Amino acid sequence: MAERIRHDGALVVGAGLAGLTAAMAAAPARVLLLTEAPLNHGCSSAWAQGGVAAALSGDDAPELHAQDTVIAGAGLVVPEVARLLAEEGPAAVRRLAELGAPFDRKPDGAFAQSLEAAHSRARVARVKGDQAGRAIMEAVTVAALAAPHIQVKVGAKLVGLLQDATGRVRGVLAREGKEIVEITAHAVILATGGIGGLYAVTTTPAELKGEGLGLAALAGATIADPEFVQFHPTAIDIGRDPAPLATEALRGEGAKLVDAAGQPFMALYHPDAELAPRDVVARAIHAERTARRGAFLDAREAVGAHFPDEFPAVFAACMGGGIDPRVQPIPVAPACHYHMGGIATDTDGRTSLPGLYAAGECASTGVHGANRLASNSLLEAAVFGARAGRAAREECAPAAPILRAAPAPELPPEALQALRVAMSRDAGVIRDAAGLERLLGDLVALQARHGRAAALVTARLVAEAALARRESRGGHFRSDFPDAHAAERTFVTAAVRAACRAA
Ligand code: SIN
Repeated sequence: MAERIRHDGALVVGAGLAGLTAAMAAAPARVLLLTEAPLNHGCSSAWAQGGVAAALSGDDAPELHAQDTVIAGAGLVVPEVARLLAEEGPAAVRRLAELGAPFDRKPDGAFAQSLEAAHSRARVARVKGDQAGRAIMEAVTVAALAAPHIQVKVGAKLVGLLQDATGRVRGVLAREGKEIVEITAHAVILATGGIGGLYAVTTTPAELKGEGLGLAALAGATIADPEFVQFHPTAIDIGRDPAPLATEALRGEGAKLVDAAGQPFMALYHPDAELAPRDVVARAIHAERTARRGAFLDAREAVGAHFPDEFPAVFAACMGGGIDPRVQPIPVAPACHYHMGGIATDTDGRTSLPGLYAAGECASTGVHGANRLASNSLLEAAVFGARAGRAAREECAPAAPILRAAPAPELPPEALQALRVAMSRDAGVIRDAAGLERLLGDLVALQARHGRAAALVTARLVAEAALARRESRGGHFRSDFPDAHAAERTFVTAAVRAACRAA
């Protein structure tokens, strides 16, 4: 019999920027925050190099930011959600600064902002070149730990959701060491991050395997747009797992993409060359590598000797891999970077299941559409994390009895590795029906052997939706359907999937 803990307040799962922001915003409700990894580990937020996009300068406006977000999202962004994100963006960045995030400033004290691809203005607030995620997370973590209403439980892994007979989510099952603990609460906010760990090549912590999404799907929550995965074009190809990132800001500073012979190639693919949309750059690099011409980011002229000061994280990663980016081009490859899809939510983080909220990368508010605009993810975590926290604090637990639940099985390491290789091979930068059908066959076989592990459930959602979307749009490119023609979002539930398979 599992130990049962009754928490009179909200339960937040995940300690990235969305989880910590939600926890702080839920005050005065009591918050129990569960995280498997130690604080500031195992979350993408702390690894973000770019910064936070927001219309903070005199020549910018939320309408322009919203417009760029809609255009980047390739027809699937919900315009009202983009407007909300852009309107609440400047206050969210100022709030992070008040909490101690040391954003770069101009001599007059205004935020120094830089340009990234597909932004019509320089609007990315940064910290020392590529340190934004780490510095923001340090500040927010200190604030969350000091908040008297938040209690943090480290070493607790989410392995199931507790529900009552109405389907309302009433708490979670967590694994602590070998023990399974049932924790009931008034509301559960999932902030469990993305799916990079489902791919063999990823820029995110490998722990992030979409398990929160998979468990929500198993509980019956609606999942939106799972096929839309963003591949960052310039992961540093030095054989590390996860692959370190070479931030897009380097291209914003003028770094060039060249082949092994030193020839720039991006102008052959898009008029905006290095600053083309991220999916276009990722496919161009994929094509150059597939043609065995190689792909390198040459920042010798644009950054050169300033590397250690201006891009310390990229510099350290390169040097660790035997590349001195001051004098050598950096070998790059596309890598899974961000999941636009997720647990479908409204603008207050409410999912289709009463009592269950989601925020950050595991959620799909509709703000990213088919392709997230660079540096909108930390902003989304801050804006919608806060909204979810405020909404969840109003919840009260009903009296209905809670149904018994079993923890989802875990994938053993060799099965996970097979899954990652298959996902990169068949649900990567370029997809087609034959590859996706092969992938689904592999996933069905893994499920037959290892059960409905949450990571497998999520991988199947990605693969099935990618197979069903017979067009190319944003991060989803089908070589057998290269044109765009169905500007509709995907909404799917595990129950519908089961029915479809039975039919
Ligand atoms: C980058 O710095 O290139 C990544 C920023 C982002 O993913 O938003």
